[in-house]
This record gives sequence, structure tokens and C-alpha cells, in this order.
Amino acid sequence: MAKVRTQYTCSDCGASTSQWVGKCPGCQAWNTLVAETIADSGKRTHRYAEGVTGGVLRPRVMPLAEVSTDKITRLSSGEVELDRVLGGGVVPGSLILLGGEPGIGKSTLMLQVAMMVSSFGKKVLYVSGEESPEQVRMRAMRIGKVPSDLMVLPETRVPLVLSALKEEDYSLLFIDSVQTLDQPEIDGAPGSVSQIRESVAAITAHAKAHALPVFLVGHITKEGSIAGPKVLEHMVDVVLQFEGDRNHAYRMLRAAKNRFGTTSELGIYEMLGDGLKAVENPSEVLLGEAGEASSGSAISVALEGARPLLIEMQALVSTAVYGTPQRSGTGFDLRRLNMLLAVLEKRCGFKLGSFDVFLNLAGGLKIKDPANDLAVVAAILSSSLDLPLDRDTCYAGEVGLSGEIRPVARLEERMSEAARLGMKRMLVSGHGKTPLVPEGLKLVAIKRVSDIQKVIF
Ligand code: TYD
Ligand code: MG
Repeated sequence: MAKVRTQYTCSDCGASTSQWVGKCPGCQAWNTLVAETIADSGKRTHRYAEGVTGGVLRPRVMPLAEVSTDKITRLSSGEVELDRVLGGGVVPGSLILLGGEPGIGKSTLMLQVAMMVSSFGKKVLYVSGEESPEQVRMRAMRIGKVPSDLMVLPETRVPLVLSALKEEDYSLLFIDSVQTLDQPEIDGAPGSVSQIRESVAAITAHAKAHALPVFLVGHITKEGSIAGPKVLEHMVDVVLQFEGDRNHAYRMLRAAKNRFGTTSELGIYEMLGDGLKAVENPSEVLLGEAGEASSGSAISVALEGARPLLIEMQALVSTAVYGTPQRSGTGFDLRRLNMLLAVLEKRCGFKLGSFDVFLNLAGGLKIKDPANDLAVVAAILSSSLDLPLDRDTCYAGEVGLSGEIRPVARLEERMSEAARLGMKRMLVSGHGKTPLVPEGLKLVAIKRVSDIQKVIF
């Protein structure tokens, strides 16, 4: 008879205690412990017997230099941007977790990849726990021609998914989503910590043994992390985040973790009527939307991941109607905005205390590069003076607390992107080294925030 006991597991970090406590001893988060029933039946041994070790328990010590990597050929997902973010395609046997808010387009992206890969003649299985085969088919029809080799399995029970995998040799597996998986051996409703952990462990064992790459779709919590145990992120090889503003067409895909490549690559997609399309020249698209010169708009040369991006910063400074002035930033950190306003007030004598300040990054993108500071300051100045800025001037500089403009990383790449898009002037920090400037671009070096006004109007 298996011994049954209850333990409490943190839904964030996976730490467990034998008694319920309000604060997790592992990650100090409050109210994250949930009860789980554990049956100690010695079940763990079967995981060793099956798959993972090929049934034989013998240590395989070998010289690292003799480990062959010839067998590793990456599978192209058919999506240029996704392949790039993954570091050049899908590694056999890897687990890729894709997280994102509801409605952002996770299922669309996954189905698109599934259709693309199976149209190359590979066997692909799409396990749909959330949508019926009819719904998947309807979505597929919006995206394009439905390949005959693409299999769909409307199933949430893990043993049935595993037996489907044993019946046929698939090249790629999709699970949409991990929160719907149900492992009958384990107590708890689908989506609970232990269910997610054990279901993914069972699928991982199969995937690693058969070199089957797996894409897992994961929901995220309102704090923005992937719902379920944090251990899930340790179990998989790659964690991708799909983000953007649902009301805008642009989506950003980036890797939060990647065992096979860098995490600095960024993919940009646009959601269209017939699925997601890769945006190959994001700067051109983002600038194309900018329209004519108006006050409060400045172009920043940001670097997102490995990629320089020209993006429009829009500021609106208006008299506060209510007692407390409002500050709001879409796609921009509000604390950073407040800091920049404080610097403007203290170092330039710009009194914005009784004004509302709104800041917006065009296209609904979120970009955290500190080099955006200079464009933000320029946009705020332009809006409050109601003077438009030149459309062929761009900005890249970090603003420090004492009002100094600091140099930014990888200026050469930013300059060549700006020159490529026809920018004539670029405002940068006067503190760094003077780089080689591409033809057609004029560099204007400034040292302090108080110098900006002289240069831009
Ligand atoms: P979906 O992939 O279902 O999001 P998720 O799986 O992340 O919850 O996509 C949701 C939205 O995408 C939906 O509101 C409709 C829109 N959409 C398009 O605009 N074009 C399309 O071709 C498809 C398939 C969806
Ligand atoms: Mg979905």
C-alpha cells in the first residue's frame, strides 16, 4: 500500500514544506503554497527504466573532447525570426516553452510553425488541449493551405499523448498548453504545480529519448511570469516570451533563456488577418507610421537585443486639469520617466510640476534601452515648447542624474542603422570616444541635458 501524505508546494519556486505557512521559505513570496497529495509508492524508479537511460543503468563517463556533435542538425522552423531567436533553428530533443498573455498569438505562431514544418514533408503532431480540432482547422485555414501530414490530437491526458507518440515517429511536437495537461497518476487539477511538473517531466523523458523537439505553450500570470512552478523554466531548454500590446499589430519574440544560443536576439512579428508575418525591417515600418513632423515626437536609435531599431517616442505635455499632475508611460518605465522629468527640472530649470506628461512608444513595443533617454527628453521639450523636431534627426544617449549625457553601447551599429534609414543628424553623448561616422550622417555630441535645447530647435 502506498503511503499517502500531504505536502505544501510553492507555486513560484517549487519549494515544499510539510506544513502550511503563509510565506514561502524558498523564495519569500506570500500565499504561494498549495497543498499536494504525494503517494510514496516507489514510482520514481520507472522513470529510470524507461527511455532516459535506455533501460540500462550504467554510468557513461567519456572525454568531453571526444563527444561528437555531428549528429546535431538543427531543424528549421520555417519562420526566419523564430529560427534566429532560437539561435539557428530547433535542436533535436529540445524543449521550448513559449509564454505570453492570452490572445497575443501563441497558438497562431505555433500552428503556423506546425504547418510550415509539415509542408516540408515532416510528421508533426499538434496536441490541442484548449481548442477543438474544428477550431484548429479554422485557424489553420486563415493562415494558409493545410498540409496533409499535419496531425492534430485534441487531448489533455498525458498517457494518451505518450501513446500517440509511440505509435508514430514524429519530427516535431506541439503542446497547447501545458496548463491543460493531466497526468492521472498525480493528484490535483490540471494547471496545478504538481500536474504541470509531472506532465512535463513525462513528456521530457520521451522527447530526450527520441530526440523529438517539443514546443510547449505556457500561460503567464498577471505578474508576467509563466504560470506554474518556476521549476518548469529549469526543466526546459529554451524559454521564449511573446509580448506586445494586443491592440497593436506588433509582437516581439525573445528568449528569456536559451541553452543553445544567445538571449539577445529579438524577432518582430506583425499580426495580420492571415496569421503572423515576420517584420524584416522593423525600423522602416515603425518610422513609416510616424507621419509628418509634429511637436512632441523624437526618433530614438534603440538597441533591442542584437538589433538596432529606430523608434518614435511621443510625448504630450499639457496643463494638469486636476490637482495632481498625471504621468503615464506606455512601453516606457514610469520611474525612469519621473527621473528624467526631475533631471529636466533641476538641471534645465524646466518646471513641469504642474503639467501632465504622457509618453508613448510607437507601435505598442516595449523597449528598455537606456539610450532612449535622450529622445524622451527631446520629445518632452518639443511638446512643452510646442516646437516640432526635425524628422531626420535621431537620438541615442543615456541621461544621468546630474544631467550628464552618457555614451551608449554599440554606437557604430546604431549609426549605420540611422544612416541606412536616411537620418542626417544623430545626437549622442560628448563623453565617449569619437567613432567613425558613416557617410551622410552628422554626429552632434552633447555633454549635458541643458545643451539639448540649443541644438535641436
Ligand atoms: P491566439 O493565437 O489564439 O492567441 P493565444 O494562443 O496567445 O491566446 O491569437 C489571438 C488573436 O489573434 C485573436 O484575437 C485573433 C487574432 N488573429 C489574427 O488577427 N489573425 C489571424 O490570422 C489569426 C489566426 C488570429
Ligand atoms: Mg491559445
